Amino acid sequence: MAGRTETLGVGLIGTGFMGKSHALAWRNARAVMGGLLPGLPKVRLEMLADTPADQAVRMADQFGFARATADWRDLVSDPAVDVVSITTPNKLHAEIALAALAAGKHVWCEKPLALTIEDARAMEAAARRSGRATMVGYNYIRNPAHQHAIRLIREGAIGRPFEFRGWVEEDYTADEAMPWSWRAMVSEAGLGALGDIGTHLISMTEGVMGPIADLAGDMQTVYPTRKKADGSGEAPVENEDCASALVRFASGARGTLVASRAAWGRKSRLGYEVHGTTGMIVFDQERMNELHLYRNAGPKAEQCFTTILTSAEHPPYGAFVPAPGHQLGFNDLKIIECAAFLDAIGRGVRPDADFTYALRIEEIIHAWARSARTGTRVAV
Ligand SMILES: NC(=O)c1ccc[n+]([C@@H]2O[C@H](COP(=O)([O-])OP(=O)(O)OC[C@H]3O[C@@H](n4cnc5c(N)ncnc54)[C@H](O)[C@@H]3O)[C@@H](O)[C@H]2O)c1
Repeated sequence: MAGRTETLGVGLIGTGFMGKSHALAWRNARAVMGGLLPGLPKVRLEMLADTPADQAVRMADQFGFARATADWRDLVSDPAVDVVSITTPNKLHAEIALAALAAGKHVWCEKPLALTIEDARAMEAAARRSGRATMVGYNYIRNPAHQHAIRLIREGAIGRPFEFRGWVEEDYTADEAMPWSWRAMVSEAGLGALGDIGTHLISMTEGVMGPIADLAGDMQTVYPTRKKADGSGEAPVENEDCASALVRFASGARGTLVASRAAWGRKSRLGYEVHGTTGMIVFDQERMNELHLYRNAGPKAEQCFTTILTSAEHPPYGAFVPAPGHQLGFNDLKIIECAAFLDAIGRGVRPDADFTYALRIEEIIHAWARSARTGTRVAV
């Protein structure tokens, strides 16, 4: 094990949506996944950082961390911390990750890696130099239903996949009355829908179809300005609400991708259809325990979509619950991700969704934005 002590000391930075999800994962990864992954290192919830200081103290108590600080620098330099979870807003990822790697810590960072492709490349290079393990929050690829789709395609269940239609749609900027926020600023958020949710779509797309070779992208901002919450006028929205792309895969297959944060009614509609020569597969994160499979088999009059409900037949579902159809949830995906990270640290091997994996996703979303700005098809 890479840690200095028998157990790995965990440091968590940020206690919002993702902070809680990481905290739950650290607490439960070994309990849930220890049977499937024997030898999973034990962890100690060593230190939590958040601002302001009283919030850090309160959340350390709630999540069960031994110590709290308002300065993340104290956490990344603490000798009892072996691994750092970064769940702060995007703007802080690069600075914290570089400091943690320089201090010899393993790093689990939320997506996107950074605001700019230059920072993402610097993070990836630092991770490789450090020899420490890294992981990035691409939790949706952990879904047993998505993993089963990949298996079915590899086994030829739908023949040769020739077309992919992928989408990721939410509606958090759909309302014109929504006040302006830092999320609309390139210097605070980076790309818009592409960075925030398009990254997840790319992680699933390449998992199913293999590498994207090139793409022709488009983007739009629905409301170019928004009213400031304090009533002091309007401010510009600098990044995109919606993006679409025509893609070509290295396999020769074609695809269309859509990412939108302004799609009324869509809450977490991350999914895809894969069209093959003998059938089709559909996945939708809003119904994350299901997979729909159509096969050109048997009497034509009886052909139909089959709904596959995930069960212990779809690992690691059975590590959570033995009964089929009882369903996993979003935070369970984080537990699977955390266990994969811990397993890689324990075995001294490269995690599957590390900074190098994440850098490729950043290269693709920035290529997509470049293509949209220049009106040209770009290689990735
Ligand atoms: N993997 C996923 O599915 C997923 C889902 C949502 C968000 N995210 C990513 O997670 C990150 C956080 O998003 P969120 O929705 O949890 O945000 P959030 O606003 O809910 O939480 C951010 C947290 O960071 C803390 N923070 C801010 N500045 C800090 C500082 N200087 N020091 C210490 N703590 C600080 C805040 O107090 C808060 O606790 C983002 O990068 C986002 O893209 C990933």
